[in-house]
Amino acid sequence: MKREVKAYRPVYPSPAALITSIDAEGRPNIVTLGEVFNISVREPVIIGIAIRAATHSHGSISATREFVVNLPTTAILRAVDRCGTVTGRTGRDKFREFGLTPIPSIKVKPPCVEECPVNIECEVMERIAVGDHDLFLGHVVAMRVDEDALDEEGEIAKGSLDPIVYLTGEYWSIGEKLEDLYFTTKKRDS
Ligand SMILES: Cc1cc2nc3c(=O)[nH]c(=O)nc-3n(C[C@H](O)[C@H](O)[C@H](O)COP(=O)(O)O)c2cc1C
Repeated sequence: MKREVKAYRPVYPSPAALITSIDAEGRPNIVTLGEVFNISVREPVIIGIAIRAATHSHGSISATREFVVNLPTTAILRAVDRCGTVTGRTGRDKFREFGLTPIPSIKVKPPCVEECPVNIECEVMERIAVGDHDLFLGHVVAMRVDEDALDEEGEIAKGSLDPIVYLTGEYWSIGEKLEDLYFTTKKRDS
């Protein structure tokens, strides 16, 4: 038997990601987002992030049209949670307060978070109002990965990433690898 429930953030899981931006005065900020997803995956690579208009990050990203998606590990869970409960609007420096280190990005002005093994630099292509959030489409212009998180072939060693998984209202870690993609056929039809 199934029971009808009220839909709220119905799709799971999502990453708990740290998005960095700079405001019009050049001050860097960090916001925690669960609504972060791949849209165009290879050519070009485009990411979507959904942000409420009330946040400081929304204003900064709208004004400067750049952001970085930093993917954290469980080691910095407390900082990830705090970056999602405090606003940078009043000038609070979330990097300093929560023990995170800004490092220069390659192509965009917002800094990367050093403690995150993956940093994805984006330029805003478009902002679209969608219900209670605005969707920002970010063209990925550079991506860096900690060398420790790369295998001998230069591929991301997924087992080393230790990401934080956000399941509405709770943080989880991931479990064991199940299988490779297309393990049933070794190929796909279309
Ligand atoms: C795990 C987690 C996920 C969140 N996901 C989102 C999200 O996808 N979109 C959003 O607008 N706010 C989200 N928030 C809330 C913002 O992080 C929060 O409003 C933050 O304080 C805004 O900071 P700012 O004003 O400095 O930008 C999330 C918070 C947490 C803790």
